[in-house]
Amino acid sequence: MLDEVVAPEALAAILAATERIGFAMASEPLTGALLRALAASKPGGRLLEIGTGTGAGTVWLLDGMDQAARLTSIDRDERAMQVALDHLGADPRVSFIAGDAGTLLATLPEAAYDMIFADTMPGKFTHLDEALRLLRPGGLYVIDDLLPQPNWPEDHGPKVEQLVARLRARPDLVLASLRWASGIIVATRVGAGS
Ligand SMILES: C[S@@+](CC[C@H](N)C(=O)[O-])C[C@H]1O[C@@H](n2cnc3c(N)ncnc32)[C@H](O)[C@@H]1O
Repeated sequence: MLDEVVAPEALAAILAATERIGFAMASEPLTGALLRALAASKPGGRLLEIGTGTGAGTVWLLDGMDQAARLTSIDRDERAMQVALDHLGADPRVSFIAGDAGTLLATLPEAAYDMIFADTMPGKFTHLDEALRLLRPGGLYVIDDLLPQPNWPEDHGPKVEQLVARLRARPDLVLASLRWASGIIVATRVGAGS
């Protein structure tokens, strides 16, 4: 019962197109359900998704956002992003930016985002400080794919451990590690002096 989720209407078509183009990195529905609930906690919020893929996470974020909230989603794979554009591009709350996230993160405004879903290398395993700089106090930093998977390359487990240790060591983050879906961390940015 706990695992039952009502998915956003566009999800089925997005997942069908995701399969057609052979994109294998789409978020699973349980991750999406958490993203939706967290996005809903930020009325009028500014949200950032690093790694759009085909929009399988984007659609859940949008489903949680109110009409005043805005989402920017970045990916360098224009073929994958085209699926998101085809299904979600008409929603005026979302802007898609094609390009390298490692470069783009440095161009985004500091402390301007209420929630970041960091779902690719830059902003997670690299460029972590650049991503966290974008969060305002009270903002949420969310990452998934933290529980060991059989398809991980040998060096990936230690990278995840290092990432989690880095996040835990930051005095400006309050962390919750969740054994949910692929393994998730939700971290809240706290202000200086909190
Ligand atoms: C795990 S998938 C994203 C899945 C998506 N967020 C979802 O919820 O279904 C990671 C994405 O990051 C993109 N990516 C990888 N390196 C990148 C980079 N340096 N800059 C921008 N996007 C990148 C890949 O093209 C891929 O679409």
